[in-house]
Amino acid sequence: MDGYLGSLHPDFQCQRNLAVVATLVLLILGVAPAFWCLYRIGRMLCYLKRQQQDQRRLRLIVCRVRRQGQSVLLTLRTADSSKLPKALPGQHLLLFCRDKDGKPVSRAYSLCHDTKQRHYYRLAIKAEPHGRLSAPLVAGVAVGDSIVSSWPRGHFLLKTNRSPLVLIAAGVGITPMLAMAYRAIRQQRPVTLWYQARTLNDLYFHRLLRRLPGLDYRPILSQPAVDWLGARGRITADNILAHTQTDSDFYCCASASMTDQLTQALRQQGKQLHYELFSAPASAESFTITMGTISADSAGYASVLDALNQVGAQIPFDCRGGSCGLCKKRLISGEVKQVLEAATALKSDEVLTCCIQAKSALELAI
Ligand code: FES
Repeated sequence: MDGYLGSLHPDFQCQRNLAVVATLVLLILGVAPAFWCLYRIGRMLCYLKRQQQDQRRLRLIVCRVRRQGQSVLLTLRTADSSKLPKALPGQHLLLFCRDKDGKPVSRAYSLCHDTKQRHYYRLAIKAEPHGRLSAPLVAGVAVGDSIVSSWPRGHFLLKTNRSPLVLIAAGVGITPMLAMAYRAIRQQRPVTLWYQARTLNDLYFHRLLRRLPGLDYRPILSQPAVDWLGARGRITADNILAHTQTDSDFYCCASASMTDQLTQALRQQGKQLHYELFSAPASAESFTITMGTISADSAGYASVLDALNQVGAQIPFDCRGGSCGLCKKRLISGEVKQVLEAATALKSDEVLTCCIQAKSALELAI
């Protein structure tokens, strides 16, 4: 073959090469836009489908209530006990209720049951001090009550593989970890759960976790009673790594400071921590935040979103953790402090209001 090609007249070979190049260029020019259009259409369809799903509502009936200290464990079904929409470990429901003044309020709560079964959802809700939804719910919810919720949603999902799994939780952050533990145990992955709380009463699901077959459960109390025989102190990366296989996956749901500290320590060892935050410390600084005609003071709020919504701004939100993108706003002026990491693509002048605090007076576009 080489000999045959080598015998072609150089002019003819050159023309042939030009023809090949021209054909390739035409093909690329023709095919690339078609692929680009298909890609954009695919993305738009996914977006529309997700929006449609986000707007769908479920009417659920409370069929079981278990109170523990300042929290409540709710089991929810449909009125006719029919199959519920599929949920994944790590997802949450957005509950739509009314606060004590009758104003609409919605909050996200992680699912904490084995999501393989489809006939009930289970949520653990802790009464936050001054919580507009959690406090009245924990105090007053009863069997037979009806609750409107979103479909299961959220992006903090367990990646499916066979690696050993290390779950790290603090306080009520145990909820998505429990759903993940059920799934991983069913898949016969080795699972270790590190769980930190202040006292024994703050360890949710403690009895269940102690007996869950296949789970290496490691509770740690920071303020234990004298008769506590388990580990004391706080979860540290050194603790975790000393008991972890090298190819493990790490997932965490805890406070911002604990997550930040573990992320950095694990990163130094070349490990990645997947996490969902459930709180950032409240801002101690007082700056005016304005959006249109509404203005709020930043002091005492964990995010610009909370400060503005408290005075009636009605910025939509879902995850409060930087992943859904619903609370996105354009920053007109001012300096912000990033308290949670944004996992959503943003333009240079955009911010996720759930992830920032004010570092100076702020102005946001409506
Ligand atoms: S509420 Fe989801 S990113 Fe802010």
